[in-house]
Amino acid sequence: MAIKVYKGNIISSETFDKLRVIENGYIVVEDGFIKEVCQNLKDEYKDVELIDYGNKLIVPAFSDLHMHAPQYTQRGIGMDCLLFDWLNNYTFPQEANYKDPAYAKSVYARLVREFIRQGSFQLVLYTTIHYEACDILFRMLKEAGLYAYTGLVNMDMNSPDYYVDETKESLAKTEKFIVEHLEDDKVKPILTPRFAPTCSKELMLGLGELAKKYDVGVQTHLVESRAEAAWARQLYPEYDSDGLIYEACGLLQGSGPKVFAHVIFPEAQEERILSQYNGISVHCPDATSNVTAGIMPVAEMTKKGLKIALGSDVGGGHFLGIYRQVARATQISKMKEFYEEGQERIRLANALYMAWVNGGSIFDKIGKLEEGYRFNALVIDNMLDEEYYTNLEDALERFCYIGDERNIFARYLDGKFIDPDEVYERLLKI
Ligand code: GUN
Ligand code: FE
Repeated sequence: MAIKVYKGNIISSETFDKLRVIENGYIVVEDGFIKEVCQNLKDEYKDVELIDYGNKLIVPAFSDLHMHAPQYTQRGIGMDCLLFDWLNNYTFPQEANYKDPAYAKSVYARLVREFIRQGSFQLVLYTTIHYEACDILFRMLKEAGLYAYTGLVNMDMNSPDYYVDETKESLAKTEKFIVEHLEDDKVKPILTPRFAPTCSKELMLGLGELAKKYDVGVQTHLVESRAEAAWARQLYPEYDSDGLIYEACGLLQGSGPKVFAHVIFPEAQEERILSQYNGISVHCPDATSNVTAGIMPVAEMTKKGLKIALGSDVGGGHFLGIYRQVARATQISKMKEFYEEGQERIRLANALYMAWVNGGSIFDKIGKLEEGYRFNALVIDNMLDEEYYTNLEDALERFCYIGDERNIFARYLDGKFIDPDEVYERLLKI
């Protein structure tokens, strides 16, 4: 691939607290990787093809580290429910539909197109208990060229009889899925026990063996709500915290990422486990508001050195764009500060760092617009209006709050222009 130069207003994270803004800057890209980001273009690049995005913003693409692919079709319904009613009345019946591969194909092709539209190029996805549907999603992600971890969902108890596996069957399917999908370098398998209340100890121990045998990581829901944490303890009385179940059953032994959604009520054991295993917690502000799970103590956890990324958690969350979760994380942190003594809010720059740098950290060279990183990037309308002057950081803030996919003017994945509709046409052939 030849060298190309992109010009525009470049914004990425400098530190957790600070954005780096380069007005009218240049990004030199070669073979999908950023060679240089600069204010003044060196003479040696003067004859190279230049794509000038004028006063638009160039920012890193987003990472969505917790999303349920099958729940794409249930966005924005059942939102009057709390977690368990939402699962039983809406989610389990909906997920059961994916036993039909034709249904899975139709939904997953639209979902993958929507990820591209919304600028989420790095993903960690739940699926369902169905092998074929899960395989379809894997192949579509691969065809689209996205970066992802995904796995077959494990649940063998406390689930409806129309949507549950026998323990051995669940383990056998999971192992087959791992074996058949281990070799891809961009889309990778990950263990996906739904959450402790739907997984027996025998199942957890079996998954622990798979973690070791295949060196894979794990994603799950951890201390998502008080009711969930209490139920997990009741089911696993030998462990006095949700996190210990995963550690004791061996699920954290693989070298793949350990991705924990929500982590709203972490106790000392969860904090130790997150640090010791380099776990990443995923804040999903829409979802935890919708099912009234609570508000993650983001500022407090960050001060303790724990790494937090963002997730849409669709369909617990109702909107796929991670930039909106950036806004929502900032918003609800103010509620936490307001209502809970000792808690602090976070700022926009913090939430963007979580979405870009922390989210990208479980992938290879992703999340920053800096030399050596992949050019996974979005070009965004500057959102400046004539009546009211805003600077470039304000423009990005405005995009996070009121923008949508129509404001994403261009998308680059591994240095290549990517068009969601063109990808969709290819997905329909899978
Ligand atoms: N806990 C167990 N399953 C789910 C799910 O599908 N969504 C959310 N938000 N929490 C869960
Ligand atoms: Fe979830």
